[in-house]
Amino acid sequence: MRITVIGCGYLGAVHAACMAKLGHEVVGIDVDDQKIRELSSARAPFYEPGLEELLREVQETGRLTFTTDMSAAAGSDVHFICVGTPQKKGENGADMTYVDAAASALLPHISPGDVVVGKSTVPVGTAARLAQLVQDQEPTSHLVWNPEFLREGHAVADTLQPDRFVYGVSDGSEDHPAVAVLDDVYAVPLGAGTPRLVTDHPTAELVKAAANSFLATKISFINAMAEVCEASGADVTRLADAIGMDDRIGRKFLHAGIGFGGGCLPKDIRAFMARAGELGADQALTFLREVDAINMRRRTRVVELTRELCDGTLLGKRITVLGAAFKPESDDVRDSPALSIAAQLQLQGAVVSVTDPKALENAAKRFPELQFEDDMYEAITKADALLLLTEWEQYRNLDPYALLSRVASPRILDGRNVLDPEKWRAAGWTYRGLGRA
Ligand code: UDX
Repeated sequence: MRITVIGCGYLGAVHAACMAKLGHEVVGIDVDDQKIRELSSARAPFYEPGLEELLREVQETGRLTFTTDMSAAAGSDVHFICVGTPQKKGENGADMTYVDAAASALLPHISPGDVVVGKSTVPVGTAARLAQLVQDQEPTSHLVWNPEFLREGHAVADTLQPDRFVYGVSDGSEDHPAVAVLDDVYAVPLGAGTPRLVTDHPTAELVKAAANSFLATKISFINAMAEVCEASGADVTRLADAIGMDDRIGRKFLHAGIGFGGGCLPKDIRAFMARAGELGADQALTFLREVDAINMRRRTRVVELTRELCDGTLLGKRITVLGAAFKPESDDVRDSPALSIAAQLQLQGAVVSVTDPKALENAAKRFPELQFEDDMYEAITKADALLLLTEWEQYRNLDPYALLSRVASPRILDGRNVLDPEKWRAAGWTYRGLGRA
């Protein structure tokens, strides 16, 4: 099939490459000239494991091209909308500018029978509105809402072998003509047994909002338990092990620490609350306000713990922050808790040095006032305290003995609870975790 992918960011670039890998002829379209130039030379404009290799592999087949020219969409059977829906400035709602612009630029190029597929995370009601625009343009064309659940750092595998497909079609019926078209697009993963659900438009949109809300709630739940553990002298990691053995609960997404960040969970739960408010269902989601508040409290808690660790004052203390990305295997620093903590510490008088294997360039753009150091060993030299805030493999595997001679004081705050406290204490370090005595 010939496929258009509009928006070549974290979602679209991966989607375009993966669709070409599945055997389709794909054109990726983006308004950002620089991004298109990089992708056209098989360079990923951001760090995502396996993406660059995949881009090289599929571009050699000639099945994947990139352009800034929307007219290249003409002739495709399926058009995916993969642009961002960031949080509006100063408001909780989602900024729909990019989705609306993509739809209106695309529609003049669609042909009878084409299928337009929305993948961006949008407020419920968007699909019905866009479906009307598609029908007005081309009465035999259809709009499907097909939410994306990929995780950064695992985006290629999550796109090629997703847990499930959700197709939201206007009548919610398996017999809707667009269902068969999307089945052809996803024939390979469907053939390998990936389940797919056909729903109406609003259900498909809500599946994404609900899934991200559930994940955020799970993380804030365990972080709330961490607060109680801190107050009572209990250990949240053992508590999570024990409740996670109940398979109704499960151990995944119960890692207590500095909380969630990134381009999705924080803004998605806020946009969901805002949309529920518009629909008169705001009471249903008031708990998400608490989920958000628990999450933000973790950042303040780390600043307080660091102060405690540094004998009661941050003034002039040299603090090394290990990790700037919102999670490992990513260079994404959007709403990164690590960076927000680093900035807070600096504002309170600490001398902060931030290191990260991939995210320093992006971090420096967002927080130019912070000090960044590529070389981790340089970064920790003469530090009064280390803060492990993004659990990159190389930080998990640090040797406490090897670092002793580098730092001014052997003190470490493990913001992700990934180090072995016994090992670090045995080596002479003052170790603090989150939600652990
Ligand atoms: C998330 C959803 O998982 C994905 O399905 C959706 O499509 C987009 O949003 P992503 O933002 O890539 O994906 O990251 P995810 O792995 O979900 O982690 C989100 C944040 O939660 C990270 O900051 C991570 O460090 C944090 N987290 C995750 C925890 O603090 N504890 C956990 O147990 C799990």
